[in-house]
Amino acid sequence: MRVLATGGAGYLGSTLVPLLLSRGHEVTVVDRFFFGAEHLPPEEPGKLRKIRDDIRWCDGELFEGHDAVVDMAALSNDPAGAIDAWKTYEINYLGRSRVARLAREAKVARYLVTSSCSQYGFQEGILTEESPPKPLTAYARANVLVEKDNLPLATPEFCPTAVRFSTLYGLSPRMRFDLAVNGMVLGATRTGKIPVMRDGKQWRPFLHVRDAARAILTVLEAPVEKVRGAVFNVGSDDQNYQVGTLADVVAGAMRSPPTLEWYGDVDARSYRVSFEKVRRELGFTPELRPPDAVREIESALVSGALQPTEKTMTVEWYRHLLSNDVASQSVALRGVVL
Ligand SMILES: NC(=O)c1ccc[n+]([C@@H]2O[C@H](COP(=O)([O-])OP(=O)(O)OC[C@H]3O[C@@H](n4cnc5c(N)ncnc54)[C@H](O)[C@@H]3O)[C@@H](O)[C@H]2O)c1
Repeated sequence: MRVLATGGAGYLGSTLVPLLLSRGHEVTVVDRFFFGAEHLPPEEPGKLRKIRDDIRWCDGELFEGHDAVVDMAALSNDPAGAIDAWKTYEINYLGRSRVARLAREAKVARYLVTSSCSQYGFQEGILTEESPPKPLTAYARANVLVEKDNLPLATPEFCPTAVRFSTLYGLSPRMRFDLAVNGMVLGATRTGKIPVMRDGKQWRPFLHVRDAARAILTVLEAPVEKVRGAVFNVGSDDQNYQVGTLADVVAGAMRSPPTLEWYGDVDARSYRVSFEKVRRELGFTPELRPPDAVREIESALVSGALQPTEKTMTVEWYRHLLSNDVASQSVALRGVVL
């Protein structure tokens, strides 16, 4: 397949792109490269193209000749969305709606949008794809809206799918330490203390980033009848953790046992999710667990192979890009910083 990946240089994208290439797919990355592009494999004719552009205004011709679009470009979590609710609406909702329509006009057969389980907000019980969304943030609202707009675009020739990911973790070429497991390992390695968001009782599903990339591949390669217009929660039933318990799991996998350090106000979000549908319909089950990520991240930090630069803290990096100093420099595209 020829796959166009928006946001393909991000945390998830930079794990997905090498996987797609290894399966013989040809990839075009369309990304603002807010976190750079150098961590992706080098461009190679007939294999990988990297295009610096913005999903809000890129040319529709870019989509022509592709078989699938994986739409990952976004301000990519609740705190990043809170920096600027309008930008979140504009990129995560209007931008990705635009991408789906352009893909359909360009006769791309498949379209997959990466949504999030965070749209369940605060709810008791085990939530399925049929549970009502209760979005509490600009980021979560944009995910609800983009699913509502993009899935009804389904036709016999156009197959849109939404995957609602759990919170991701694990090592990726574009590393993020603003994700729970990854941040815990960084804190423990640097200070011997695991930062845990109060009060630790909130439930959240988790998934390794390489399993997330594999799930995308599974959807792209699934029979269209199984995925056309469909939504899948993606994660694993046994990786629904209360954050305090997760911290204990992380602590238990570290070489020297850290202590816990509480921070923040009590989290308003708490949701436990069922992943029965993706298992039943597509046979997808995750292979990795948080201790796998703890070991790989700890080793990379201790060996110095992984440097926790400013860019690995997504929200801080976006704030930096928005600061006046940077506004006039090369990160701006057509005069727009973000
Ligand atoms: N990381 C998680 O825990 C998680 C969980 C659930 C869903 N998701 C979803 O997965 C997707 C990828 O997340 P991620 O963790 O890789 O985030 P990321 O921030 O690492 O990557 C997002 C990428 O999108 C690019 N981008 C942002 N705005 C753009 C625009 N207007 N035009 C073109 N490119 C733009 C950025 O440069 C970046 O490379 C997002 O849609 C996110 O909502 C992520």
